[in-house]
Amino acid sequence: MAVAVDRVDMLFNEMILQLRGQLSSFSDAFAIVGAIYTTQKTLNIVCGCYRAISVYGLPKLRRRPDLVSRYGPWALVTGCTDGIGKAYAQELASCGMNIILISRSNDKLIKCAKDLESQFRIQTQVVTADFSQGGAIYAMIEEEIKDKEIGILVNNVGVMYYPECLHEMNLDRIFQLINVNITAATIMSRIVLPQMVERKKGAVVNLTAAASIRPNPQLAVYTATKTYLDFLTQSLQYEYEDKGITVQSLMPCYVATKMTKYGQNVPSPGYFIPSASLYARRALSTLGVSSRTTGYWPHQLQLWIAEMIPDRMWLWGANIVNSAIKRRIVQQKKRGTLASSSS
Ligand SMILES: NC(=O)c1ccc[n+]([C@@H]2O[C@H](COP(=O)([O-])OP(=O)(O)OC[C@H]3O[C@@H](n4cnc5c(N)ncnc54)[C@H](OP(=O)(O)O)[C@@H]3O)[C@@H](O)[C@H]2O)c1
Repeated sequence: MAVAVDRVDMLFNEMILQLRGQLSSFSDAFAIVGAIYTTQKTLNIVCGCYRAISVYGLPKLRRRPDLVSRYGPWALVTGCTDGIGKAYAQELASCGMNIILISRSNDKLIKCAKDLESQFRIQTQVVTADFSQGGAIYAMIEEEIKDKEIGILVNNVGVMYYPECLHEMNLDRIFQLINVNITAATIMSRIVLPQMVERKKGAVVNLTAAASIRPNPQLAVYTATKTYLDFLTQSLQYEYEDKGITVQSLMPCYVATKMTKYGQNVPSPGYFIPSASLYARRALSTLGVSSRTTGYWPHQLQLWIAEMIPDRMWLWGANIVNSAIKRRIVQQKKRGTLASSSS
């Protein structure tokens, strides 16, 4: 610092003046960084609100789209005898689509098909297949559906388990999770996509889970299977968007179905835990509007909050919740009041 002075107090004053000058340029720089950060955050909030209104608000005001002319006359739903799959099939049928129902219980399938035909005056086809069997079933499924013009494929089938660590899990259960949650959606998409590509239209809806956005101790395999499906969906959406095909990752939080009953009864539906039919109605209205969505506004709110939680705190909280569920299950098993496993 070159300062032309001959007295110490003048030298001191000069140094303070220079320092003040530098400090003000520092505070200017901080002010600019602060302004950029605030603008970015404000833009994120504005874009988030805009997306939320266009995905969850506007479709409710519009008339129901003509799914048959937009995508094709048939929809195929896997795991459709209960829960979200059954409700989604009903919604599609109420839009005039014919439904191919694939699930493992023949009696339930026939009953669902009859109900849909009589309620909505549509055609149905039933295919009985157990997706936990792995590769052996797909040639039969392909043969059964080969003459149908499938406009919408809903890869809904999925299984869960009561929380446990990987070393406690039975090997059959692990293979079941992989075969049902991963293989089924991948191979069904492989079977149906060629005809959609040929017609340059169609939609594939993959039921992933909001749980797939963060790791989940004691439900590691389930969460990982859903993360696989979510990533598969995002890549496929990019691969097929210029071929006229929509691929959607539908990632619900809790929906009141037999999958989420950790006791004898399905949880009672409420605002944050909707019934399968309310969830399916809302979710279908987002098809063609968003390629990755929870499908239901209160679930989006929960997802936003979950995304804000720091990683370590999230893992800690998830582990506590899953341990509590596990304790409850053990007690129910002891009392003999536990309904059959969540899958
Ligand atoms: N419920 C939730 O809170 C929630 C949250 C996030 C994501 N999800 C996802 O949403 C999807 C549907 O869940 P959900 O709650 O509706 O399930 P759910 O009530 O348990 O119904 C599952 C359906 O899949 C069928 N199924 C099960 N295993 C099968 C197999 N091996 N082969 C063929 N069909 C089989 C069941 O048939 P049966 O009737 O014969 O059992 C039933 O129709 C799943 O992929 C799940 O991971 C659900």
